[in-house]
Amino acid sequence: MENLNGKTAIVTGASSGIGKAVAYRLAKEGLNVVLAARSTEKLKDVEEEINSGASGEAIAVPTDMTDQSSVRELVQKAAEAYSTVDIIVNNAGQMLAGTVRSGKTDEWDSMIDVNIKGLLYATNAVLPGMIGRGSGHILNIDSVSGHEVTKTSTVYSATKFAVRAISMGLEKELARTGVRVTNISPGMVDTPLMGSRSVDRKILDPENIAEAIVYALTQPTHVNVNEITIRPV
Ligand SMILES: NC(=O)c1ccc[n+]([C@@H]2O[C@H](COP(=O)([O-])OP(=O)(O)OC[C@H]3O[C@@H](n4cnc5c(N)ncnc54)[C@H](OP(=O)(O)O)[C@@H]3O)[C@@H](O)[C@H]2O)c1
Repeated sequence: MENLNGKTAIVTGASSGIGKAVAYRLAKEGLNVVLAARSTEKLKDVEEEINSGASGEAIAVPTDMTDQSSVRELVQKAAEAYSTVDIIVNNAGQMLAGTVRSGKTDEWDSMIDVNIKGLLYATNAVLPGMIGRGSGHILNIDSVSGHEVTKTSTVYSATKFAVRAISMGLEKELARTGVRVTNISPGMVDTPLMGSRSVDRKILDPENIAEAIVYALTQPTHVNVNEITIRPV
């Protein structure tokens, strides 16, 4: 089993929901966690809580994933603080209504810019270090909406199909480099992204996704868990 203690992970979207739960869990496993999102206050709260309790430590780096220079700065600050970036959890994302009929191009742009372009910027920025060291792990938070489409999820699903395509392509681009790629596709998770939509069953907790991430990370180094899909029962 891979030992995570002392490794460094960037978690994007760490101010809320799944990203926050992942950051707490990785710090509990002894990792140094670099927290990225736009909300400085919320990130600082997560940073403080980790640094006052968990075995690993955290630094908050306010970042806008839609701005490539901000994302480059994130990776640079992570490397300055901890010398290497071993893991990135590409989790920052937005789910807006965004049907094609609505013509709400601002919502389309937002989802495309964060869910696809932000993930590409971050992955591209960490890859040279990972490839150079012959080890690393990229975990992309996709969605079951990256496998299925409903009449209200056309644009969100398009971005999440793209995330899955990027994960599949990266696995091939990075074969034999020592860098692993895991695509994680959650069903409904209890986070602010879900809003006030009513549900008729117990949905997933963010910690369930964090557990899946630890599973993929702790496999022997020659084992590349490429896809995990998790739905509520
Ligand atoms: N909840 C679900 O049911 C579910 C299911 C499947 C997949 N997912 C995926 O899981 C991921 C996390 O979602 P969540 O449910 O945890 O939602 P959430 O609680 O709303 O968290 C979204 C995170 O993304 C960050 N973010 C948004 N735009 C950003 C930007 N431009 N730059 C930097 N960070 C940005 C937010 O931080 P700031 O606002 O502070 O920037 C926040 O930390 C998303 O990719 C989502 O698509 C969620």
